[in-house]
Amino acid sequence: MPSLSRTCTLLFSLLAFTLACRIPSAYAKAAGTAAEFNAAPASAFVKSLPSEGVTLVSTAAGSIKGIPGTVNPLLLAIDLSTFIFTLKHCSQLELHVHTNGIEYNYIVSGSGSFSLWSSNGSIVHLKTTLHPGDVVIIPAGWPHMFSGPENFPEPLVMEVTFTSANPQTYFVAGAGSFLSVSPGYVMASEFNATVAQYETFFGLAKSGGIVFNETCVATSRT
Ligand SMILES: *[C@@H]1O[C@H](CO)[C@@H](O)[C@H](O)[C@H]1NC(C)=O
Ligand SMILES: *[C@@H]1O[C@H](CO)[C@@H](O)[C@H](O)[C@H]1NC(C)=O
Ligand SMILES: *[C@@H]1O[C@H](CO)[C@@H](O)[C@H](O)[C@H]1NC(C)=O
Repeated sequence: MPSLSRTCTLLFSLLAFTLACRIPSAYAKAAGTAAEFNAAPASAFVKSLPSEGVTLVSTAAGSIKGIPGTVNPLLLAIDLSTFIFTLKHCSQLELHVHTNGIEYNYIVSGSGSFSLWSSNGSIVHLKTTLHPGDVVIIPAGWPHMFSGPENFPEPLVMEVTFTSANPQTYFVAGAGSFLSVSPGYVMASEFNATVAQYETFFGLAKSGGIVFNETCVATSRT
């Protein structure tokens, strides 16, 4: 998608880098023990995401603050991480996938939309609208993307929890060139699909399956 906002490309590629590089996967754990909970400091039980979250990304397009498992011993013990995403007017959190956890996403304020594909592309929800109070459930391995508000200035704010202390994030279409240089068999393996399924799936994305509001996207480009 050459029309994607360059700001967002940088924004969320940086997140992928940050998550992939800063948090050793050896830290991820399957379950907590009573001893781990007893040992945790009182301050670990209540955290403010906006004020205590680690800023991963902050650009003109939006921001991501989070408390991953390595930052909070309780989240590490129960193998969860939690983030607050802010997507400003006309910005895009481009197509990506989390392979090692479910995403559970609560819309705090603002408006926007999400698009979701099943892991083999057979189920597609394009630009489903989001309102405060909505919960979005994204299965592991299902590609998805979010769009900020197109018609209102108030940003989309989402509290996002992953069932992984170390959520792995792969961006699949953002740079455009990434698709053309990645062999089909590599990406097919990523999505546990056949090469034919993969090519059908991304043929859809490439040829307009994702409907961008070009006017809106243009205003967020930097
Ligand atoms: C895709 O997966 C769904 C279940 O998630 C299945 O019903 C469908 O047959 C699959 N389609 C292909 C082409 O494999
Ligand atoms: C991959 O797909 C095959 C067949 O479609 C299925 O049996 C298997 O469980 C899938 N593996 C994962 C990790 O989803
Ligand atoms: C596209 O975005 C523009 C600019 O924000 C907005 O005015 C317009 O209503 C949007 N179009 C649709 C179809 O939502």
